[in-house]
Amino acid sequence: MSCQSTHPLFKPLTGAEALVDIWFNDEPLSVPGERSVAAALLAAGVSRFRATPVSGSPRAPYCMMGACFECLVEIDGVPSRQSCMVQVRAGMRIYSQEGARDLPPLNADAAEHHHDR
Ligand code: FES
Repeated sequence: MSCQSTHPLFKPLTGAEALVDIWFNDEPLSVPGERSVAAALLAAGVSRFRATPVSGSPRAPYCMMGACFECLVEIDGVPSRQSCMVQVRAGMRIYSQEGARDLPPLNADAAEHHHDR
């Protein structure tokens, strides 16, 4: 009787140990690259990504696949980014998202033209 070989479903990412330098809440931070912002921040020990608008309760990534919205942060000036869906890059400026943020209008140019009339 022979056994069929099995292959592991998951393999570690090659090069995942290379560190990239980012900023988190105005503090320099070296995090593992080749992964999402959420995974990189978690690996660096960050546990507070945002606070809820009403009670201010701390929140951190939960699903890591874009479904729960618990990982919202500001990345390079853009609020409400799902950090689990964005790849980390050197030089990123990331801020935890404290409470509600105003989103930019979907089409700022159209809004300006509307006000010109
Ligand atoms: S961790 Fe759930 S959407 Fe990012």
